[in-house]
Amino acid sequence: MRVLAVSGSLRKASHNTALLRAMAEEAPEGVTFTLFDGLEAVPPFNEDREDHPQPPGLARWRNALRTADLVVFATPEYNTTIPGQLKNAVDWASRPFGEESVLWGRPVAVLGASKTGYGAMWSQADLRKALAKAGARVLDAELAIPYAHRVTGDVLRRRAGGYLADVLDAVKVPAR
Ligand SMILES: Cc1cc2nc3c(=O)[nH]c(=O)nc-3n(C[C@H](O)[C@H](O)[C@H](O)COP(=O)(O)O)c2cc1C
Repeated sequence: MRVLAVSGSLRKASHNTALLRAMAEEAPEGVTFTLFDGLEAVPPFNEDREDHPQPPGLARWRNALRTADLVVFATPEYNTTIPGQLKNAVDWASRPFGEESVLWGRPVAVLGASKTGYGAMWSQADLRKALAKAGARVLDAELAIPYAHRVTGDVLRRRAGGYLADVLDAVKVPAR
């Protein structure tokens, strides 16, 4: 089982990236867990550029998604919604719309952390909506980490590990 983990935050000290690193530590045997490190290199979406050769940053993003059995997105919340660069990457991945898209039918899971009391819940909801529209199989499991700057490493590992176990179980069940 190949799990691709994507943090929607570009900053080094990101709580969402820390959440995914904690998850990697809890990954069971048989799971290859890869943290995607190329989000910043995905170019701005431009419909005029769809038929041009793909820039390397975009090809890398699409290949990473294509080779994943499960994609786990940890999203921050910016002004109540998805950070622009993450939404931009989802827009690219959704094209061409339909069966050729790397998101089509692909199992995806969404969780998030924020410094406020809401744990990026609106951003998570918006990301689930966009991924579902793109044809991904959005798993039901939810995890919101509020006040992320106050959460200890032990708690983060326990919660991230429990979430990963749930989504790995869910992905084994064929889609309805
Ligand atoms: C532009 C901007 C907008 C933000 N808007 C929200 C928000 O709507 N809701 C929220 O819970 N936190 C918001 N925050 C605070 C983030 O929760 C906090 O910066 C968090 O640490 C970002 O995630 P990261 O640690 O993974 O980078 C915002 C932060 C920035 C920089």
